[in-house]
Amino acid sequence: MKHRTFSLIARNRDPHPADWEAPYQGEVHALVSLSHDSEGTLEVKTREVSDGLHGIAEILAVEHGTALRNPKGDPIEHFGYVDARSQPLFLKGDLAAEKEAGVDAWDPSAPLGLVLIDDPFTNEEDSFGSFLVFRKLEQDVAGFAAGVQALAASLGIDEPLAGALVVGRFKDGTPVTQRPWDGLGPVNNFTYRAQDRIGNRCPFHAHIRKANQRGENPLLSDAEERTRRIVRRGIPYGVRPPSPDKGLLFMCFQSDIGRQFEFIQRSWVDNPNFPEFRLVSGLNTGDDALIGQHPRAAQKWPRQWGKSGRVLGRRRFNFGDYVHLRGGEYFFTPSLSFLKNV
Ligand code: HEM
Repeated sequence: MKHRTFSLIARNRDPHPADWEAPYQGEVHALVSLSHDSEGTLEVKTREVSDGLHGIAEILAVEHGTALRNPKGDPIEHFGYVDARSQPLFLKGDLAAEKEAGVDAWDPSAPLGLVLIDDPFTNEEDSFGSFLVFRKLEQDVAGFAAGVQALAASLGIDEPLAGALVVGRFKDGTPVTQRPWDGLGPVNNFTYRAQDRIGNRCPFHAHIRKANQRGENPLLSDAEERTRRIVRRGIPYGVRPPSPDKGLLFMCFQSDIGRQFEFIQRSWVDNPNFPEFRLVSGLNTGDDALIGQHPRAAQKWPRQWGKSGRVLGRRRFNFGDYVHLRGGEYFFTPSLSFLKNV
């Protein structure tokens, strides 16, 4: 990840590796991820793995992830929003469950090739691996809350709606493209096609719209856009033990990091001129309000949900940077057959 600062397509706006946390500044060769519902078991297993690595490897860092949940049991991140809802789905059972829940406007299905590639380290047939992007993303929770408050005051709207214009969903997961108040929960049955082409309900810079345009990408065909999707498997850190340093251990799987994670991060999230054709019509959007790392990219916000005119109905406001990269690396997750033979 350190060596991927520049590309021909767009600049990566990550902080310089010298400013990352010390364990991530040098070479990192492997990541071992353990998870369990029981904290006790996890602790025992972590000790077993650490002891087993003694004399073989130097352990640079141990990160503790803990699922956070809202009172309804939905997984949330530290700013309080339901997370991990929208994912590419591969299994018939998962797709049938979505269909049963009435999801027909957005197609979450994905071919296995989106996430798996042939494992080159084994000759066994049907052995697949996946590329993993790991990013330790620190979240400034107090700063974010103050930012939402200031945005709400500037637009003359309530704070839940201001937050939803940043994320694209209300805290309970209700998509802001569907209505300007919460209560629907984390539904996934929407696109921006029908009533939100000009982004006056869910702004173009809202996190979920930057990261997945759901068929409304001005530069890519539907089919091409769908090949950019990633499988997110992040987990919050700083929950237990409670810590002033908190954030997301962002992890995503894909078959091609350049085509998927890097493209999303550089060409959409950190690109204030995406969607570019909006620049031509005077509607350049700013960077991703939630995770964008562009220092001077004020976004243009709809003054009134669903009613703003094309240009004059928008207000410039630079929503600050409350998510910071503290370190990370790219990895290859080998197949089970490879691991069994280690
Ligand atoms: C601390 C950092 C981050 C936070 C707090 C965060 C938060 C969220 C939330 C609340 C959602 C909505 C839930 C959902 O639709 O599943 C979401 C969706 C999403 N995020 Fe993030 N995210 C973070 C980092 C990232 C990064 C680094 C990427 C990739 C570059 C990313 C890509 C996505 C994608 C692709 C979606 C799904 C959008 C959709 O399909 O509608 N996120 N994120």
